[in-house]
Parts: sequence; C-alpha cells; structure tokens
Amino acid sequence: MFDLECKAIEEHATYSPEQTQKLAAKFTSSLKLGDVVGLVGQLGAGKTQFVKGMAQYFGYTENVNSPTFVLMQIYSIEGKDQSIKQLCHVDAYRIVSSTDILNIGIEEYLGRQDTLVVVEWPEKIVNIMPQNTIYIEFSLGMENENKRLITIKKPEK
Ligand SMILES: Nc1ncnc2c1ncn2[C@@H]1O[C@H](COP(=O)(O)OP(=O)(O)OP(=O)(O)O)[C@@H](O)[C@H]1O
Ligand SMILES: [Mg+2]
Repeated sequence: MFDLECKAIEEHATYSPEQTQKLAAKFTSSLKLGDVVGLVGQLGAGKTQFVKGMAQYFGYTENVNSPTFVLMQIYSIEGKDQSIKQLCHVDAYRIVSSTDILNIGIEEYLGRQDTLVVVEWPEKIVNIMPQNTIYIEFSLGMENENKRLITIKKPEK
C-alpha cells in the first residue's frame, strides 16, 4: 500500500522520545505549507511523540497526545512562521466505516496553504489521503526497548 515511487528515502534511528521529537522538528523545518504527512507503525511505535516534535517546532508547547474520544485536533500556531495557522493532527486508529471518515472533518484541512496535516494510522483512511502524502514508517528496534527505526518516504512529485 505504501510502496510509493519515492524521490527520497531517509532512514533514522532514535533512542529516546526526545530524540524522536528532535528529528520531527528538523523534518518539519523542511516541509511546505499544505503538505500532508502520514505516520505508519504499530501501537507505541512513537507516532504521537513525533507529532509532539512537529508541534514543538512551531513553538506549540501544550499537550499533544492521542486522545481517546477525539479523532482530530487542531493546534493553533502563532509566531514562528507567520504563514502557518494550524497543525491538524488526526488519529484514525478508531475509524471503522466510511461514515466515520466523513465525520472527522479532515477534508476541510487537506491541501490548505495555512495548514499542515499529520495523520496517525493513515492506512485506515487511505482513500482520502492525497497522492503526494509524505509517509513515515516507525518500527521498534530489536536490541533496545527505546530504539525506534524511522523511515521517511518523500514521494515523486
Ligand atoms: N525512541 C523513541 N521514540 C519515541 N517514543 C519512544 C522511544 N523510546 C521509547 N518511547 C516510548 O514509546 C512510546 C511511544 O508512544 P506513542 O504514543 O508516541 O506511540 P504511537 O505510535 O502514537 O501509538 P498509538 O498508535 O497507540 O497512538 C512512549 O511511551 C515513549 O515514551
Ligand atoms: Mg499515537
């Protein structure tokens, strides 16, 4: 499903949540507005920690988590980059039907030039993910419980 034609594949390893956040902040600095990012990986792989780092890049220091009853959260951003207004964080884990997809309201945010959209569990809503989504795959490293392998796949434009 995610075997895209890639322009660039970057492989990273991190050894703490903080390192994952730092990697996310650096990655975010390379994004352009309107980009959509899909985070793929099992429960506890580090997807939400990564989103936290993305938000930190914009100076957003409030809580970032995977809320139990909310599928989408909007983090308002002021300051760092005048042109970005918000980071839209979707966690599609609980999506079971196409009606649920429509109910999230994500489509309002996709492709907007003042917004970045980041989706955990994009495979649950693959039919509405844009073609040029940047997918990032997370997996657990073997030799250490805090090791994570993080592969960034930028699609061919
Ligand atoms: N290198 C690392 N990077 C990120 N998280 C790590 C790392 N090492 C340990 N952790 C821990 O792994 C957990 C990652 O949780 P996180 O909520 O980010 O996972 P997730 O992929 O979003 O899972 P879910 O699908 O349940 O939302 C946290 O408890 C974090 O402290
Ligand atoms: Mg999560």
